Amino acid sequence: MILEGLRRLEYRGYDSAGLAVVTDSGIDSRKKAGKLANLVGALESDPLPAALTGIGHTRWATHGGPTDANAHPHLADEGNLAMIHNGIIENFAELKAKLRADGVEFISDTDTEVAAELLGSIYRGAGEGNLTRSMELTACQLEGAFTLLAVHADHPGVVVAARRNSPLVLGLGDGENFLGSDVSGFIDFTRRAVELGQDQIVTITPDAHSITDFHGNPAEGKEFHVDWDAASAEKGGFDSFMEKEIFDQPAAVADTLLGRSDAFGRLTLDELRITPEELASVTKIVVLACGTSAYGGSVAKYAIENWCRIPVEVELSHEFRYRDPIVDSNTLVVSISQSGETMDTLMAVRYAKEQGAKTLSICNTNGSTIPRESDAVLYTHAGPEIAVASTKAFLAQITATYLLGLYLGQLRGNLFSGQIKDILADLGKIPAKIQDILDRAEDIKELARSMKDTESVLFLGRHVGYPVAMEGALKLKEIAYIHAEGFAAGELKHGPIALIEQDKPVFVVVPSPRGRDSLHSKVVSNIQEVRARGAKTLVIAEEGDESVREFAEFVFYVPETPVLLMPLLATVPLQLFACELATAKGLDVDQPRNLAKSVTVE
Ligand code: G6P
Repeated sequence: MILEGLRRLEYRGYDSAGLAVVTDSGIDSRKKAGKLANLVGALESDPLPAALTGIGHTRWATHGGPTDANAHPHLADEGNLAMIHNGIIENFAELKAKLRADGVEFISDTDTEVAAELLGSIYRGAGEGNLTRSMELTACQLEGAFTLLAVHADHPGVVVAARRNSPLVLGLGDGENFLGSDVSGFIDFTRRAVELGQDQIVTITPDAHSITDFHGNPAEGKEFHVDWDAASAEKGGFDSFMEKEIFDQPAAVADTLLGRSDAFGRLTLDELRITPEELASVTKIVVLACGTSAYGGSVAKYAIENWCRIPVEVELSHEFRYRDPIVDSNTLVVSISQSGETMDTLMAVRYAKEQGAKTLSICNTNGSTIPRESDAVLYTHAGPEIAVASTKAFLAQITATYLLGLYLGQLRGNLFSGQIKDILADLGKIPAKIQDILDRAEDIKELARSMKDTESVLFLGRHVGYPVAMEGALKLKEIAYIHAEGFAAGELKHGPIALIEQDKPVFVVVPSPRGRDSLHSKVVSNIQEVRARGAKTLVIAEEGDESVREFAEFVFYVPETPVLLMPLLATVPLQLFACELATAKGLDVDQPRNLAKSVTVE
């Protein structure tokens, strides 16, 4: 049953898997790096005893690479306790140091093992052998986002869970109960589900469940009936993984920000593995990437140059390598790759290393080749991206490059701590602003459906709006097979304007009117120029910008944000547009023709 649930949840993470069962003779567990099939193989050669209670996990690594030792469950209390975890525990280093001082030895690099050991020590101490009470006390000490599930040899029929900021649902069966990250984990066994609230603890036995807050006060969940079929349950009820991943973006950005600054607004990118002195001596940054990730790099150029006054070049990995580029030991080469396996980018990174450059990888896949071969890595925490066309990884990449820019600005003294604090506060507001856009998705979807027979669409933007326009066009090409081109709006008059004819759809990404005055008015002039020549103008503008209305056939407003952060918002309606248009055309949104998620050939 657990393996079946894990198979259905595998889309959430698939770099390692494991399970633990509780019988009268104690806890027994198996875990394996790699896909679920590896665990199945391990269980076939070394089966677990029959048991009525167990927990299982598929992992998407955040702290510690995808190895057997780092796979969950993690054992504590001398092997009597097993724990699995989703999320990121921000204060794990501090807790680990305390536990170490008490003589605890750790065998993995994970934050999860720290939580397991903490639960184990509380269980032996203040928790007085009460697993639920011990989980409450543990949860109170943890910061960050977590769903924790634990079983203990002393309580064979019991599973206890805690939830803060990570998903957890309860499934109510007949003489059996379930917990899962989402309903697809138990949809084969029951359709009765209970949504748990934030900061809640739930304890299940075969016949009962109880819910409390972190202080032991009774709490309630919200029961609902699951009417999805099993396939749509994996997609959270969305039509495609791409749409689901677009809707995952508030969490992707929030999780990428999590744990990377302290209470004083100082960046704490301790994971970087290049010394602050080395980073401070950098005189040039070269960003290397392909596809969507390269547009993430283009956004980074605007932000990093503005904040740190270091020249940033952005180049497609496959072009970089073959043109005798000038890099040396003072060059920081930043590669951006969702998969960490793109061969073009890997080869470019290797080449840069040979030339003596320092290499830093921004990557979504823990333990993949590019971060392994780089001097340093900054992981994006978007979670696994299944759809070929990248969405949530893109926003997470942009978020990570902002963190890098702020960190460099901090190290080199280009930014005052007050400025960093303000920008971090603005970044912290982005997830809710993305959610606001998603709540209004229907407006842009309706436009997309009405344009399903369109043959060509142009996208214009300036400044950070330029890479947004390029990405908007790429999405449409990739999944809707529509001819689409992105241009720098200023370049319009130098050629592309010849393409404008009656009813030609043109998206224009308009910068904030609160930014540099000339920038906004220049783009508004560009809207007028194409409209005067018959274009159908589709405008993405900032809330409150009334100046665009009279020149626009359609306006979608995004919430106010500082200009440099705007791509995190303006990209979202364009993703929704492409996704809905491709769906309306009846295309396979998640697996578009001729494309692969991870291109491991040059
Ligand atoms: C492929 C995918 C694109 C992706 C690009 C870079 O071409 O189809 O969606 O943007 O690779 O992938 P990476 O994993 O390096 O970010």
